[in-house]
Amino acid sequence: MTDPIATTVLKATGLHRTYRLGRVEVPVLRGVDLEVKEGEWLCVLGASGSGKSTLLHQLGDLDRPDRGAIAWRGRDLSDMRRRERETYRNRAVGFVFQSYHLMPELNVLENVMVASMVGHDPFAWRSMRSEAAHRAEELLDAFGLGHRFSHRPAELSGGERQRVAIARALVNGPDVVLADEPTGNLDVKTGEGILEVLTERHRLGLSIVMVTHDANIAARADRVVKMVDGAVVEDAQVAPEATH
Ligand SMILES: Nc1ncnc2c1ncn2[C@@H]1O[C@H](COP(=O)(O)OP(=O)(O)OP(=O)(O)O)[C@@H](O)[C@H]1O
Ligand SMILES: [Mg+2]
Repeated sequence: MTDPIATTVLKATGLHRTYRLGRVEVPVLRGVDLEVKEGEWLCVLGASGSGKSTLLHQLGDLDRPDRGAIAWRGRDLSDMRRRERETYRNRAVGFVFQSYHLMPELNVLENVMVASMVGHDPFAWRSMRSEAAHRAEELLDAFGLGHRFSHRPAELSGGERQRVAIARALVNGPDVVLADEPTGNLDVKTGEGILEVLTERHRLGLSIVMVTHDANIAARADRVVKMVDGAVVEDAQVAPEATH
């Protein structure tokens, strides 16, 4: 279980997000408050359409709230300068999308390496390339994809694609992984493999915010948050005996 006095790494306060479709306004987040502690594994549950992905996108700075604030280690994202904010997005956070979002024209190794490349100019990248390739290869090896480096995403199974997507999220050694139903499209056994990888990283101190529909996965988390209609309605510590 997470130490109750552990540092807060990520804090959302009063997040509002409304999407506008023509003249129709769809309020998706209606004042979400959320805190993630260092090394904590938080699961977000909620019905389809309750705003889980939208919340994760705000936390990962992939979309911006209309109102409210997100702070990383006590520093408000909106107070960060452009470079600092990019560093947050590309280095502090690893994002696993609900539907992988791999680049179809890149092979497996390149799909992972691309995360290391972001934010570096071509000259700096040249001197970092082999080190980045090494890290990507190590991760892919550990995920059982050592024989797949030169394959394209279209040639992989769903589970393999998801493992590539998780390798990409981890390759820069993030402090927190935001994972949107990382096992949602997978069979139980493949999903279990993905969870083992994340559980192992969690043991080493990685904070995880994971959206899931699966109560068995939620039981392995330190804390579970439930969303209904764009608001957090429940925020509960998982009983220690239920944790992994
Ligand atoms: N870019 C967008 N433009 C307009 N509406 C959007 C956009 N993104 C999400 N929405 C709407 O916001 C609501 C919440 O979507 P979101 O994807 O956050 O739900 P979710 O809880 O992740 O659902 P699921 O479990 O199905 O993935 C939905 O009604 C959706 O149609
Ligand atoms: Mg979603």
